Amino acid sequence: MASGTGRSTSIDVSFLDDLAGDARSRAGLLRALRDVTGAPGQDVFSASADQILTLAEADADRYVLVVRREGQVAGVGVLHPGGASGEMLDRLDGARPQDVVVFRGFLVDRHHQGVGVGSSVAASLPALVAHLAERLGREPFASVVLVVDADNVAGRRAYSRAGFADRGAYVDANGRTQHVMALAVA
Ligand SMILES: CC(C)(COP(=O)(O)OP(=O)(O)OC[C@H]1O[C@@H](n2cnc3c(N)ncnc32)[C@H](O)[C@@H]1OP(=O)(O)O)[C@@H](O)C(=O)NCCC(=O)NCCS
Repeated sequence: MASGTGRSTSIDVSFLDDLAGDARSRAGLLRALRDVTGAPGQDVFSASADQILTLAEADADRYVLVVRREGQVAGVGVLHPGGASGEMLDRLDGARPQDVVVFRGFLVDRHHQGVGVGSSVAASLPALVAHLAERLGREPFASVVLVVDADNVAGRRAYSRAGFADRGAYVDANGRTQHVMALAVA
């Protein structure tokens, strides 16, 4: 539903539920999404596509996004309303959990990295979050929030170019510094 052109390549991002008309097409899309793989060493930045999708399939509040480039599945992401952690909410100036959508489980396939896919998806998030509020029949969400590893240069760059502000950092259970980044969407 949201589309754009990243460095002369056509990129679109859709909710899996909107693309998958029937069980067969859903299964086919899920297979292609599970094949999305990061580059060596990137597993410190995100879970595998399989782990991302397994969690999403088990949780009705996680909405899977299908990222396509030139019609090919190029990435996966998840919008998770109400999923903000304490570390996130502590840095959102008293936002109500129900007004915040978490963007998580974002992975661009290694063959499609570095050509603007991540930036294009980040720029599409306000439209995607507005669409999610509509489909849930609720008032617009106030903000979208995510965490990104301090060493994740491409991720931090893509999010800040899309307008996300760094709201502060914390050290996670693995001793890695994670930045909370947020964008007002209402
Ligand atoms: C992070 C990620 C989503 C970015 O997606 P992408 O499609 O590769 O990003 P883009 O091509 O849009 O590049 C974004 C910016 O980072 C820069 N960049 C891309 N790869 C880079 C690299 N390896 N090192 C430094 N900068 C890099 C780009 O030049 C661009 O900056 P610019 O707009 O100033 O030119 C992708 O690399 C990825 O899936 N990584 C593994 C999983 C992950 O980190 N997920 C995000 C968790 S928060």
